[in-house]
Amino acid sequence: MTKSTEKLYLDLDKVFEDTQTLVVVGANWGDEGKGKIIDLIMKNYDIVVRFSGGANAGHTVFTPDGTKVVSHLIPCGLAQNKLSVLGRGEFFDLKLFITELEDVKQTLGGNLPEIYIDHSAPLWTPWHGLLESWLESIRGSSRINTTGKAMGPLAGLHKLRVGPVVSDLYEEGDHLLNILKFLYTALMPLFEKMNLAEPVYTPEQVRDMLMKRAPLVKDRVVDTSFFLHKAKKEGKKILFEGAQAAGLDNRWGTYPYVSSGNSVAAGASVGSGLPMNAFNASLMVVKVLPTRVGAGPFPSEMWDRNLAESFPKETPELFEKGETRTNFLKDTLETINSGKASGELWAKYFQVLGDERGATTGRGRSVGYLDIPWIQYAIRINGPKWLSLTRFDMLSGIKSIPVVVGYKLNGKQLEPGEMPASVQLSKVEPIFEEWECFEEDIYGINDYEQLPEKAKNFLDKLQKAVDAPILLIGTGAERNAVVMKP
Ligand code: IMP
Repeated sequence: MTKSTEKLYLDLDKVFEDTQTLVVVGANWGDEGKGKIIDLIMKNYDIVVRFSGGANAGHTVFTPDGTKVVSHLIPCGLAQNKLSVLGRGEFFDLKLFITELEDVKQTLGGNLPEIYIDHSAPLWTPWHGLLESWLESIRGSSRINTTGKAMGPLAGLHKLRVGPVVSDLYEEGDHLLNILKFLYTALMPLFEKMNLAEPVYTPEQVRDMLMKRAPLVKDRVVDTSFFLHKAKKEGKKILFEGAQAAGLDNRWGTYPYVSSGNSVAAGASVGSGLPMNAFNASLMVVKVLPTRVGAGPFPSEMWDRNLAESFPKETPELFEKGETRTNFLKDTLETINSGKASGELWAKYFQVLGDERGATTGRGRSVGYLDIPWIQYAIRINGPKWLSLTRFDMLSGIKSIPVVVGYKLNGKQLEPGEMPASVQLSKVEPIFEEWECFEEDIYGINDYEQLPEKAKNFLDKLQKAVDAPILLIGTGAERNAVVMKP
C-alpha cells in the first residue's frame, strides 16, 4: 500500500469514526458511482442495508482482491464481506435473488456473508411484469423506458394493498394462494385487454413457482427493522445504501419519469424501519458529468437521449480498449479544446471515456454538463453532511467546460434550489458559464496535495456554488482512486 493510500484510509477512519449510521444517496439520475464510494468506506462499517429499489439497480464493485462483483438486489457492500440486509423498502424478486446469490457466491469463491431479507418486502410475481410491459406499451411515445423489473406495478399494487409480501410464502394452507387469487382477479380484466400471445399463469402455477424457491431463502427472512435496532444498540456501524437517485425518486424526482421507490435520504428511515433520529449523516454522491437512461427531463443534457442510448451498440469498437478508441478520444479532445465541439461531440467523448453503459440494461447513458441548480435542489431534499464528487478525472486534459449555473423559466431566473414541476423542467433554459478545467491527467491521484492548482480551484468553485462540503473526489476506477478534500 502506498503512503498516500495509507493516509487516505487513516483519514477515512477519522471522518467516519463517530458516524455510526451513514446514508449514501445519489444526486442525479442514478449511476453516480455510489458503489465505488460505498466500496471504499464499507471497511468503516459492519452492516450494509438496502432500503429502496430492487432488481432495477446495478452496482459494480470489486472485492479486496480485485474481483469484479455486479449486484442488483443485494447491497454492493457485500463485496467487502459485510453482513447485508435487504430492507422492507426494497421490492423483492425471489427468482432473481436466488440467481444473484448463486452468481455472487461463485464470484466470491463460495463464501457469502450473512444476508437477511425483510419479512414484509413486496414480492414479485410474473403478473407484475405483464402489467409493466402493458403500461409501457399503452404509454406509446411517452413510455418511461423502465428497466423491465416491474418496480412500478410492485409499488403501485402494494399501495393498493394487493399482492403478496415475503412472509406470505411461509404461511400454512391456502394463505398465499388466496392472496395470489385476489391479485389475479384484480388484474384479470387487464390481462384480457393485453392480447397476450401466451396464456397467463394461473394462481396455482405462480404459487408453485414461488413455493419451489421459498425454502431456499427461509433462513434469511427476518424482521430487519428489529434486527437493525438491536445491532445499532450493540454499537454496530451501519451503512444505508441508496439505489437510483434524487431525480428518480418517486416523489421528488422528475415524475412520471421516475422509479417507484424512495431514493432520497429520508427513504432510509421509511425503508429500513429505523426512526429518523437513528441516522447520523448522509453523503450525497454527485457525478461530475451527470447521466440519464430512460425518458424524462434532463436540463443539462448534451445531446439526444435515443441516439446516446444506441451509440454504444452502433459503435462497439469505441467502447473496447484499443487504437480506435484511443484515437477517437485524442482527436475529439483536440476538437473540444479548439472550442469547436458540438454538444453531440462532447457527449460522445464522455460516453466513450466513461464507458457510460447501464449495468442492468447495457443501454448507453446520455451525458449532461455539470448542473449546479439540480445539485442545489438535491441538497435541499437530502440534506447531506458531505458530498462526494465522482469521475472528476474525466475533466483531465480539458481546457474549459460549460457548466449550468442557473435555470430560466418563462424568462425569469429561478432561485438557487428552486425546482419547477417536472413538466416545466423540460422547458427550462439552462444558463451556462465556462469553467476552467486542467491540462494534467489526474487519473488515480489520491492525495489532495497532488492535484493541480486548477483542479483544486474547480473543486472550491463548485463547493462555493452549491454551499456544501465536498469530502471525497473520485479520480479513477480503482477503489483507492479517491481524494479526500481537507
Ligand atoms: P424502473 O426503476 O425500472 O421503473 O425505471 C424507471 C426509470 O428509472 C427508467 O428511466 C430507468 O432507466 C431508471 N432507472 C432505474 N434504475 C436505475 C439505475 O439503477 N440507474 C439508472 N437509471 C435507473
